[in-house]
Amino acid sequence: MKLFAIVGTNADFSYNRILLKYIQKKFAEQADIEICELTDLPAFCEDDDLNNYPQLIEIEKKIAAADGVIISTPEYDHAIPAALKSLLEWMSYKVHPFAAKPVMVVGASYGTQGASRAQLQLRQILVCPEIDAYVLPGNEFLLGNTAQAFDKAGNLTEKIEEQKLENCFHDFVDYIQHFHK
Ligand SMILES: Cc1cc2nc3c(=O)[nH]c(=O)nc-3n(C[C@H](O)[C@H](O)[C@H](O)COP(=O)(O)O)c2cc1C
Repeated sequence: MKLFAIVGTNADFSYNRILLKYIQKKFAEQADIEICELTDLPAFCEDDDLNNYPQLIEIEKKIAAADGVIISTPEYDHAIPAALKSLLEWMSYKVHPFAAKPVMVVGASYGTQGASRAQLQLRQILVCPEIDAYVLPGNEFLLGNTAQAFDKAGNLTEKIEEQKLENCFHDFVDYIQHFHK
């Protein structure tokens, strides 16, 4: 199974990136997970053309070719970061690689709520008509207190969080397989 995982920030250091690298490593036997970075992508502009940017064309193709997409979002001002929204705007205007694509939402934040408001907002954005993704229902993985959540090797320190993530990932694999039946 081929999955495409989007780090929802353009920052050099990101706990959401650490989370996706952990997911990539932990579930390597179940899925080949490629991690996508937003760093250096142009801000969306309706007057501009995606075809001017090879990085955007590549992302579009990889989303379209993947069996599923995982997005890990930080929370900025109770919302998803502008860099992530910008990518979603590019991927919803004239091209629609997310259409009928299974998507799993996860998120990590420095505070206690695990990017809960950003995750809810992201779920809402992903089902708009021009994106039309199949978002995995339920299965909220809300990783709070990120400064304590990982050890030096990038592994989750709390068994209970690891177990929750395993359950969500297992449900996502089932969800994807449902569409291949
Ligand atoms: C501009 C800005 C706004 C933020 N707003 C929120 C917020 O609304 N809720 C929250 O839980 N954390 C907020 N944070 C803290 C982030 O959770 C924290 O920076 C987190 O590490 C970002 O994820 P990352 O490590 O993947 O970049 C904010 C951080 C910044 C820089």
